[in-house]
Amino acid sequence: LGAKNIVSFDVDKFSVQCTKYLKEKADNPSNWEVLEGSILNKKFITKLGEFDIVYSWGVLHHTGRMWDAIRNAVSLVKPKGLLFIAIYNKTSSSKYWLRIKQLYNLLPNVGKRVVVFFYFLLFNIIFQLIRMKNPFKIINEYKKNRGMDPLIDIKDWFGGLPYEYATFDEVINFFKINKFNLNLTKYKKYNLSSIEMNNFGNNEYVFEKEN
Ligand SMILES: C[S@@+](CC[C@H](N)C(=O)[O-])C[C@H]1O[C@@H](n2cnc3c(N)ncnc32)[C@H](O)[C@@H]1O
Repeated sequence: LGAKNIVSFDVDKFSVQCTKYLKEKADNPSNWEVLEGSILNKKFITKLGEFDIVYSWGVLHHTGRMWDAIRNAVSLVKPKGLLFIAIYNKTSSSKYWLRIKQLYNLLPNVGKRVVVFFYFLLFNIIFQLIRMKNPFKIINEYKKNRGMDPLIDIKDWFGGLPYEYATFDEVINFFKINKFNLNLTKYKKYNLSSIEMNNFGNNEYVFEKEN
């Protein structure tokens, strides 16, 4: 995309390795730095400087201190720069999901496999058959679009702690106070209240920093 410099970082060494692998696949550009570090580490963040574009999809709500992480991500954006973030939506089910995830993480490996298997069977196979859809077609399409096997995705969802969330309004208000304007949003809007209740996925935001 013609960026002068790119800096990627993650706190987890396997995620760093994965990014390094992707960098190699992209011909190892010398202007792309891949670092191990935490968005919660203010000293590390300050050293990075400021950027025209900061992108963090589905990360800040997994840090254990979401609002501090958001604040630190904000500090990386230059005036007139853009910040892309995805944050779990807060719904009436969010607190129950937190509890389910905590319980899931207490299970031995075999218990975790049983939960993932039955969830997969119920939602990816039985539910699709009830809807008169071909589950294998849906699974293949999902893999293609999401770039992730549904079984891994389910495991990732159940196991994904820390887990925090915020409503659309909470996020917007935070950014207004910090002089960021919503540039574009793919906030998921559903008309049916029963679907809204289940809308515990990510809200995606693009904010522009004022001058
Ligand atoms: C759900 S994954 C991100 C998904 C990914 N961005 C994508 O588009 O598929 C969450 C990531 O946040 C990272 N993470 C968690 N806490 C962090 C922290 N304090 N600083 C930096 N990265 C962190 C995890 O290591 C993990 O790689």
